[in-house]
Amino acid sequence: MKIENRTFVVSGGASGLGEATVRMLHANGGFVSILDMNAELGNKIANELSPRVVFFKCDVTDTDSIAQAVKGTMEWVGKTGKELGGCVPAAGVGFPGKIIDSRSGEPIPISSVDLVLKINLRGTIDLMRQVSAHLIKVTPTAPDGERGVFVMVASSAAYDGQPGQMAYSASKGAVVAMTLPIARDLARYGIRVVTIAPSLFKSAMTAYLSEKALKSLERVMEWPVRPGNPDEFARTVKDSIENVMLNGTVIRLDGAMRMPSKM
Ligand SMILES: NC(=O)c1ccc[n+]([C@@H]2O[C@H](COP(=O)([O-])OP(=O)(O)OC[C@H]3O[C@@H](n4cnc5c(N)ncnc54)[C@H](O)[C@@H]3O)[C@@H](O)[C@H]2O)c1
Repeated sequence: MKIENRTFVVSGGASGLGEATVRMLHANGGFVSILDMNAELGNKIANELSPRVVFFKCDVTDTDSIAQAVKGTMEWVGKTGKELGGCVPAAGVGFPGKIIDSRSGEPIPISSVDLVLKINLRGTIDLMRQVSAHLIKVTPTAPDGERGVFVMVASSAAYDGQPGQMAYSASKGAVVAMTLPIARDLARYGIRVVTIAPSLFKSAMTAYLSEKALKSLERVMEWPVRPGNPDEFARTVKDSIENVMLNGTVIRLDGAMRMPSKM
């Protein structure tokens, strides 16, 4: 799939890995619709990269909110004439919580588990199903009849989740698990599904980590011994979009790092 003159929907595009993806798509001649809860950051990026980037305030836990944003995106596509090319559902949260709180001995509030699953898993599925309904109608491109591509975002926590990552790991493990079945569902339409599983990358999500925690994580990094940069994530999104043979697979983007149990 070519990026130039195609439209991509990026949830979570107002910050971190999503923002780097928006900037990469824009730099390669693509059109981008950012869907994010953070209107301040979203509008700022859209203003900076206008007219090829627009922003829709959207909460991916709310199916109507997604519907409105997808409708707005399709109206914009109608005006620009730049057909939909894919979607990167990158909106996510990493709220920690052990199944039993070590201090109080109380079980984790189920509302906290629900929220992580609702944003990271249900929100991803809901956005993808709503975008798919439009993507199956775009003009197939030669030589393979490709219509589009989804690039989902999992995490190292899908494989080696740390203490306190139960809900997060569950959500990201599910993203890994659904990569192949969605690719199989959409294969008949010429739509691919690729998932990237990053380890520790610099973003707002990881900015809270103390210097001590970062140093401790360096012990388990193989090489390079540093967190990933968002543009290194975006580069893999670019490859995932452009290389038609990548389908139904998960790419670990982690410099061989394996997350330890204890920091
Ligand atoms: N940074 C890392 O180390 C890392 C590692 C592995 C996976 N990931 C995944 O990458 C993705 C992006 O994370 P990031 O590190 O860039 O974090 P980030 O906090 O910088 O960005 C996440 C974005 O998602 C948006 N968002 C959160 N909840 C939302 C909702 N309900 N509706 C719409 N938007 C919502 C936020 O407003 C924010 O703009 C997430 O799925 C995360 O789990 C990040």
